[in-house]
Amino acid sequence: ETLRPQTTPLTGKKVLVTAGGTRERIDPVRFITNDSSGKMGYAIAEEMQQRGATVTLISAPTKLTPPAGVSLIPVLTTEDLADAVTKAFKQTDILVMAAAVADFKPVNTADQKIKKSADNDQLTIKLTKTTDILKQVARLKQPGQITVGFAAETQNLLDNANQKLIAKQLDLLIANDVSKPGVGFNGDTNQVTILQPDQAPIKTTLADKHTIAKQVVDQISQRLQKEG
Ligand code: CTP
Ligand code: CA
Repeated sequence: ETLRPQTTPLTGKKVLVTAGGTRERIDPVRFITNDSSGKMGYAIAEEMQQRGATVTLISAPTKLTPPAGVSLIPVLTTEDLADAVTKAFKQTDILVMAAAVADFKPVNTADQKIKKSADNDQLTIKLTKTTDILKQVARLKQPGQITVGFAAETQNLLDNANQKLIAKQLDLLIANDVSKPGVGFNGDTNQVTILQPDQAPIKTTLADKHTIAKQVVDQISQRLQKEG
C-alpha cells in the first residue's frame, strides 16, 4: 500500500456511488437482471474513501463485501435506486452512476409463481421503461455538483457515449466496449475511454478494475480542482 497525502481534492467531499445490476421481479421466484458484478463501482467507492471522501454506496445485489468506511444503502429495483439517489443527491458533491440499471421492468409482477400451461408454448411478459435516473438527476443538478455516468456499448462506442454525455448533462462519461474480451461486465479487468465535454477522450489500457478506478478518480479529482 502506497502512502497517501493527508489532504486531497476529494477530502471531505460527499460522494455517492451506485453499483450492481438492478433486479426487476417477474414473479416470487424469478427476476430480470444483467451481468454486472458491481466490481467497478465498488472499486471507485473504495478509491474515493481512501482519498478522504465521505462515501455512500447505493448497491443493487452483488457478491462483494462493501469497502471499509463506506456507508451502504442496499437496493433491489431500479425504482428503489432512483428514490435513494434522488433523496441523497441534494447533499452530494459527486455522483458516480456505475450501476447497471435495468431499462425495462415487467408491467405486472405475478403474486404467485407463473405455471406452465399445456395449451401454450409461448409466454409473453410485457415490459415498461424504468426511470432514467441520470436524466432525472440532470434536472436537479446545481452548479458545482459533478455527475459521472458509465456507458457499456457493443458498437459505435464514441458516438453513442458522446450522445449520453450530452443528453444526461454529465461532467464525465466512462465508456467501455463490452464486446471486447476482458472489458466491462463481470470480469476483474476493464479498459475504458473517459469522455468530458471540453476535453479529448482519454483511453486507458486494459487493467485491473482497481487500477482503472484510480484513473477515473484522478480525472474526477482534476475536474474538481478546475471547477473549485
Ligand atoms: N442509467 C440511469 N438510469 C437508467 C439507465 C441507465 O441512470 N434507467 C445510467 C447508468 O447507470 C449509466 C448511464 O445511465 O451511468 C448510461 O447507461 P446505459 O445503459 O449505457 O445507457 P442508457 O441511457 O440506458 O441507454 P441504452 O442502454 O439504450 O444504450
Ligand atoms: Ca441501459
